[in-house]
Amino acid sequence: DAAAGIQPEAAAQPAAAPKAAEPLTIVFASESGNSEKLAGDVSKLARKQGFKPKVIDFADLDLAILPKAGRLIAIAATWGEGEPPARAVRAYGELMGEGAPRLDGVEFGVLSLGDTSYAEFCAIGKALDARFEALGAKRAYDRADLDLDFEKPAADWIKGALKALAPADAGGNVVAVDFRATGGEEEEAELSREPVVVEVIDHINLNSSRSDKETIHLALEFEGGAPAYEPGDSLEIFPENDPQLVEEILKATGLSGDEALRKALLAERDITTLSPTTVERFAKATGHAEAQAFVESGEVKAWIEGRHLIDLLERFPVTLTAEHLNTVTRPLPPRAYSIASSRKEVGDEVHLTIAAVRYETHGRARSGVASVHVADRIANGAKLRVRVKPNKHFRLPADPATDIIMVGPGTGVAPFRAFLQERRATEAPGRAWLFFGDRHFTHDFLYQLEWQEALEDGSLTKIDVAFSRDQPEKIYVQDRIDQNAADVVAWLDGGASFYVCGDAKNMAKDVRAAVVRAFQSVKGLSAADAEAHVASLERAKRYQQDVY
Ligand code: 2AM
Repeated sequence: DAAAGIQPEAAAQPAAAPKAAEPLTIVFASESGNSEKLAGDVSKLARKQGFKPKVIDFADLDLAILPKAGRLIAIAATWGEGEPPARAVRAYGELMGEGAPRLDGVEFGVLSLGDTSYAEFCAIGKALDARFEALGAKRAYDRADLDLDFEKPAADWIKGALKALAPADAGGNVVAVDFRATGGEEEEAELSREPVVVEVIDHINLNSSRSDKETIHLALEFEGGAPAYEPGDSLEIFPENDPQLVEEILKATGLSGDEALRKALLAERDITTLSPTTVERFAKATGHAEAQAFVESGEVKAWIEGRHLIDLLERFPVTLTAEHLNTVTRPLPPRAYSIASSRKEVGDEVHLTIAAVRYETHGRARSGVASVHVADRIANGAKLRVRVKPNKHFRLPADPATDIIMVGPGTGVAPFRAFLQERRATEAPGRAWLFFGDRHFTHDFLYQLEWQEALEDGSLTKIDVAFSRDQPEKIYVQDRIDQNAADVVAWLDGGASFYVCGDAKNMAKDVRAAVVRAFQSVKGLSAADAEAHVASLERAKRYQQDVY
């Protein structure tokens, strides 16, 4: 690969052949699996290039190995408002803390993943990059901060980082690196998983018409067989934007809206996200004087809260070109939804449970791109582009006799429908206990009849429900855990695995705290010991989360 800047002939010379393979440590901090997948990509490519790579999850990272790493690549996702992924919290905290080891003699590169639509873009990768340097390590390759459309720039960064980290011989020439391997079709295929087109065969609102929520049960059919997805995996949907919003943007920008542009705005560009980067790019691309002053005012961050691209375009009216729009917006990313079915029960289909996101801010109605596309503009017979996103950190226990406790309020219940279908189809003997919550029993009890059937056929042992708005005070799933603390602890002590799916910001933390409380109250443990016990369940993969 000429882009790598290495003469293929040189690499083929015996004199330049690898001596001993160079160790390379690749650590990753992953929430949804992207950083983990990239760590695997680095490892495969590194091995081809004569490194001896070792991939370590932050969840299992012992900091004591880092000073001896020699060469280090860290790939880190930033989650929520600038937080590390849940499984990485412990090791990240240690690394940032006073007890972190010196890293003199280590050469490193950091690849940082994030989402520009959140505050604190790529905060964790930035912090790691600075921390490694502060601990004495040498930055061999500059950090890249990547947005949701990370695949191509990540592949480029990986190639560059491996080149920079490759050992130099006495003459300063790079040895032991054969970059001809990097363009291989095998890697390209692995780096870009192609979406496939599926047909919508069921589209049902699971809430009653009197509910203030709308949750769509979506059944999709793969022509020629479903890809090998497992319960716990997600499915990415490639959505389309709201056509009305596309028209508003065309109007606000004075663009004629030829068919090609209209199509690109509908299906290819992210026309809702507004981040500081969007505003900066807009000001720079248009040269709009007031927009530039706004960027320098330091008020951007507060103003964009709850606002979208259209608000920016209306605040600073200026005629744009299609090219400007491409510079200002990013590619429209797919949205991932936890799969709600097992292939063992639904064959060529895949099912999803999607809550339509609608709200109002700054006097304007807003909607979630993919969820409202599905809710409003998709009907039976329609086609969608989708792609399976594996999640090996949310898996049924290997032993079908192991009991499972599942906590899934709202659409968080989706993967547990898949779990129960799988367990029914395989006649798994383990017990299953579901905690479900939503607003109102009469309007929002998602899949109520299915849970009743599962109780009857034995695939579900127990269900506890928390309807938060059926009484004056809120009742949540964690309150049901508190009330059932003795049984929860008995199941866990008996070897059960515990699963949580749904809201990351509050629910998942509150549920975890309830489980810690249960160990305190039932077994008389101190808060610290109960916390350590839950942490040990996490390390043993017996406490797993799929949160968003
Ligand atoms: P609420 O909207 O009435 O506050 C699914 O969205 C269910 O999760 C709803 O009943 C919602 O209640 C509830 N919920 C909201 N915040 C929660 C939290 N921190 N922990 C658990 N459930 C929560």
